[in-house]
Formats: sequence, structure tokens, C-alpha cells
Amino acid sequence: MPMQLVKPAAEYLPSYVDALQRGWSPASIRSAEIAREHRDAIADDAAAFVDSLDDPQASGKPITLPDGTQVPRLPGFIRWMWDGEFSGSIQLRWQNGTSELPPHVLGHIGYTVVPWKHRLGYATRALGLLLPEARAVGLDYVEITTEADNLPSQKVVTANAGVLVERFHKLPVYGGGESLRFRITL
Ligand SMILES: CC(C)(COP(=O)(O)OP(=O)(O)OC[C@H]1O[C@@H](n2cnc3c(N)ncnc32)[C@H](O)[C@@H]1OP(=O)(O)O)[C@@H](O)C(=O)NCCC(=O)NCCS
Repeated sequence: MPMQLVKPAAEYLPSYVDALQRGWSPASIRSAEIAREHRDAIADDAAAFVDSLDDPQASGKPITLPDGTQVPRLPGFIRWMWDGEFSGSIQLRWQNGTSELPPHVLGHIGYTVVPWKHRLGYATRALGLLLPEARAVGLDYVEITTEADNLPSQKVVTANAGVLVERFHKLPVYGGGESLRFRITL
């Protein structure tokens, strides 16, 4: 089955849990902690967990930054890459009424593919599939930030017409490392 984006739903959960059990995490920041939170939340109330991943009204609880600071959750949603099995996840977040993001938010879109399905074009295709949805929530452009040494992610962005806007240093709360900011006009 060609990879498609699906709205998280109960039918995909066993495959999602399998990926967590194989050591994959949906997050690159606080990754082990977030993987554990997801396993616990699914065990506790699977339906509520699935619902929480689609949150265009920003009704979820605040976000905890790596230093423990809490910031308000932005409107956003997650879509899962699905090729008959759970393959990865891609997230969109935004502020209503503007294409800009608060300084602590590292881009409108983040994505991750399970390691055993890397290099199949999934991230490139997933980003392409998400862009019309970003347009549909009112954004004129999306920003995507990547680590300076994350060449695969940079290729994903440039394959989707992303243009490098700047090199910058992340806020101290993210460790201050060098990152690249790309922009895709919608
Ligand atoms: C970055 C990531 C999402 C790429 O996913 P993917 O589905 O393997 O990417 P694609 O198959 O669409 O490949 C994109 C490009 O990167 C290249 N690429 C992918 N993995 C690579 C690797 N390990 N080494 C070198 N090149 C790589 C591909 O060949 C492709 O280039 P091409 O278009 O010239 O052929 C994946 O490596 C990942 O999940 N990494 C961990 C999380 C992460 O870094 N997310 C991005 C945060 S900004």
C-alpha cells in the first residue's frame, strides 16, 4: 500500500504501540519521556489519547519545554504515516490570524519516520501531503527548522520547495545549538 497520511484512530493503535515498544519515539526533544507518556496514556484511555492528537482548538494541556517551563499549547494536529503499518508521524501547529510563530516554537511542522522505514521517501511525501492542510488553516507560509547537521531533513524540506531563510542559534532552553530555518510559501 502506498504511504498515506491518516488521522490517528483506534484501528491504527496496535501498530503505533508496536513502534513505541521497538524504541521509536514521536519526539526528538524529551523523547524517552514522551514515548513513555504515550504508552501510559494509551493504556489509561486509548480513545482519549487518539482524540488528543487532533487539537485545532488548542484545548490540550500546556507544553513543557526541556527546562520544565510551561507554555500555552498552540492549535495543531498530528497525522500518522500509514502504509499498512504505522510508519511515522507529522505534526502541524500554528497561531490563528497570523503565519508567525512564538519564538519558542521551532517551526510549524515536525516529522519523524520509524527507523525501519527510513529512505523510502515517506517524510518527503508526508510533508507534501500536509502542505495543503497548512494552507487550509490560513497559513501563507510554513517554517521548518532543522539541526545544522540533519541533512536528510533538509532534503525533505528542499524537495518540497523549502528555501533557507537563516542560520540561527536555538534559544538556551533548547541548548543553543545551530539550526537552519527554512520557509515554504503556500
Ligand atoms: C529526517 C527523516 C524524517 C527523513 O525521513 P525519510 O522518510 O527517511 O526521508 P526520505 O526517504 O523522504 O528522504 C529524504 C532525503 O534524505 C535522504 N536520506 C534519508 N535518510 C538518510 C540518511 N540516513 N543518510 C543520508 N541521506 C538520507 C534520502 O536519500 C532523500 O534524499 P534524496 O531525495 O536525495 O534521495 C528521518 O531520518 C527521521 O525520522 N529522523 C529522525 C527525526 C528527525 O530528524 N526529524 C526531523 C526534525 S527537523
